[in-house]
Amino acid sequence: MGIDFSTDWTHRLGRVWLAPMTGVSDLPYRQTAAALGARYQATEMVACDSLLASRPDVLRRAAIGEDLPVMVVQLVGHDPRLVAEAARLSAAAGAEIIDVNFGCPAKAVTGQACGSALMREPDRIAAIVAAACEAVDVPITVKMRLGWDSASLNAPEVAEKAVAAGARAVTVHGRTRAQFYTGIADWAAIREVAHAAGAPVIANGDIRDSATARSAMALSGASAVMIGRSAIGRPWIGRAIESALSGGPAWEPGPTERLAIVVEHLRRSLSFYGDKLGALMFRKHLAAYIDAAPWPEDAQARREARARLCRLPANEIEEALAALWTPAMERLAA
Ligand SMILES: Cc1cc2nc3c(=O)[nH]c(=O)nc-3n(C[C@H](O)[C@H](O)[C@H](O)COP(=O)(O)O)c2cc1C
Repeated sequence: MGIDFSTDWTHRLGRVWLAPMTGVSDLPYRQTAAALGARYQATEMVACDSLLASRPDVLRRAAIGEDLPVMVVQLVGHDPRLVAEAARLSAAAGAEIIDVNFGCPAKAVTGQACGSALMREPDRIAAIVAAACEAVDVPITVKMRLGWDSASLNAPEVAEKAVAAGARAVTVHGRTRAQFYTGIADWAAIREVAHAAGAPVIANGDIRDSATARSAMALSGASAVMIGRSAIGRPWIGRAIESALSGGPAWEPGPTERLAIVVEHLRRSLSFYGDKLGALMFRKHLAAYIDAAPWPEDAQARREARARLCRLPANEIEEALAALWTPAMERLAA
């Protein structure tokens, strides 16, 4: 059944979404997060022209896989016709939501008048959304920043235009493009967007646990939150925060569970990319899992272990990680 943003969509998608992250949210990561209870997770951004040219690495980014509660493809592009065509292709392949990126600050993207550069062209955003909505039956959503810079905080206007053109939900990262990732996300500034949009708004930026999720929702009036960096090396965070928001315990896996998660993620990576590329692609996840774990307690020891483990061949990772976390396992068992 299609997702209807005018009714009880949080029932289907939850209130804690995992952000699209280039170089992170590939299919093995999304499947791992889904197995841990995440309900909404988006692909890495997919450039429309490269998708339509069937570039193999870009096709992999848009990979539709089994074991996902909902398939969300994120597109980035400048030309409404190309975005519409890419949306059609994605929906035909199984996308159930198509998100369009108007937030990416990277020069390589803004230099092509895509991503957050489009915050300076609200009418083009409306034209892109309208063309995508015309092309497919699945919901089109948008993701944006507060504006290009502090002198042009136009997210409310952009959101209003995007929704009038057919967008069904709006995610707002509470920073401007000029800020990139500096400063702190301004959740209160998202409130104006929520007022103007007339559609569900999802607050994003610097949300890392249930306390920050609650604050972000309270200050912004958003219906849900989206987590980016804090989900790297912690693909269970969606369920953990969701549970805490509903009054349950804030679940964090112990060392034994974490080891099983890492091993399963590695297995998925090897099977998706093949052994060589899979091991390579997994390295940054392994580094993130080690960084995110509280063991060993000594940060220097963790850094050394990360450097050592990230050089190991894939078939030695499980044993090395088990050795690293065994003292914590034994302490917890005692
Ligand atoms: C490594 C990385 C890659 C990202 N790639 C994308 C992307 O492909 N599409 C997108 O809309 N945002 C992307 N973002 C932005 C995040 O989705 C999110 O908006 C931002 O990180 C703020 O949320 P956070 O403070 O929870 O990390 C990326 C962020 C990071 C750190």
